[in-house]
Amino acid sequence: MKVDGKDMRPIWFDTQSETVKVIDQRMLPHKFIVAELKTVDDIIDAIKQMFVRGAPLIGATGAFGVYNALKQISDVINYDDYLQTECQRLKDARPTAVNLAWGVDRVLRVVLKYDRYEERLKAAFKEACDIVEEEAENCRLIGQYGCSLIEDISLKKSIAKRQGQEDKKREQNKKTQQGEQSQKREKRVNILTHCNAGWLATVEYGTATAPIYTAFDKGIDIHVWVDETRPLNQGARLTAWELGKHGIPHTVITDNAGGHLMQHGMVDMVIVGTDRTTRTGDVANKIGTYLKALAANDNGVPFYVALPSSTFDWNLTDGINDIPIEERNPDEIRYVQGVDSYGNLISVLVPPEKSHAVNHAFDVTPARLVTGFITERGICKASEASILSLFPEYASRKQ
Ligand code: MRU
Repeated sequence: MKVDGKDMRPIWFDTQSETVKVIDQRMLPHKFIVAELKTVDDIIDAIKQMFVRGAPLIGATGAFGVYNALKQISDVINYDDYLQTECQRLKDARPTAVNLAWGVDRVLRVVLKYDRYEERLKAAFKEACDIVEEEAENCRLIGQYGCSLIEDISLKKSIAKRQGQEDKKREQNKKTQQGEQSQKREKRVNILTHCNAGWLATVEYGTATAPIYTAFDKGIDIHVWVDETRPLNQGARLTAWELGKHGIPHTVITDNAGGHLMQHGMVDMVIVGTDRTTRTGDVANKIGTYLKALAANDNGVPFYVALPSSTFDWNLTDGINDIPIEERNPDEIRYVQGVDSYGNLISVLVPPEKSHAVNHAFDVTPARLVTGFITERGICKASEASILSLFPEYASRKQ
């Protein structure tokens, strides 16, 4: 995607320095800093400290972690043991997003097919690069499929608007400026999203945002409600930054505003990403997603989850009990980060110094609250049968 006219991805391999480079997302939107990840420890640290975050991106970063593990040590006698240990350390960096283990294991599997060091290094590099390109293409396809849902809503709203205009014409011939403006708002498709499931969380386009970018680029009138997403404000900081750079109309709202907006007909659909989705359709995503799904269900608002196949956990059937939920440092809740009026990045304490805080980073939305999944192979319902109709190769893997 473009940042100030320049093509940009959140991860790339710099051929000059021969290192993995990433955008340090902790500093956005106030500072644009690029970090170099030279060693496997650099990769682990970047994932843990959330320089990089979002399920598909940590999968791709973990894949390069295997390459770094090989690159930094060429004189180890027992490569296999060393590699297994380093891969486990990489996979342990964050527990909820299944893409991390998926990316690391995929590179490891390929590497172990070779005996010679040079062949292994080359294979690891190629596989990591392939993962990056495949995830970019998956998100492009998610954008195409998801856009059809937005188009449908736009069409329905246009028909309803035209009907309303004809009714109105019969009553009054003179239109006021205000009347025209409110009609424009009626036609617009309002989409609510939570956290950042944009290109910063993937490689290109994003998952939840891919249909939004595609629809906008096609000229569909859209507007995005952006949940701020406490405690780390991935919505307010990252999604708002991304959408703004692309010129997409958006409004940042508090995490608690969605239900109110839905009750008043101000949300046409919800699209979120996910960190791990079971083969039965239970969805782990950023804390607060479940409450949005409940509110959407209560108000008849469609609730879609966009994901590449790398985010399905084909071994799990019970998301609420079996998906590991990351618990992060409570200081992420106690302190809020932003810039002061002089442009300095600062962190301020909010609750009383001695108050206890607990930081569950994700929750699980049960399949029954999900209208459908938008994947690189099309759209399906949130049921095992429907998911497997798109991904039949995983049918026999059930535990
Ligand atoms: O803790 P984070 O910022 O890594 O959480 C990210 C999310 O919850 C995203 O919604 C999810 O990874 C989907 S990314 C396309």
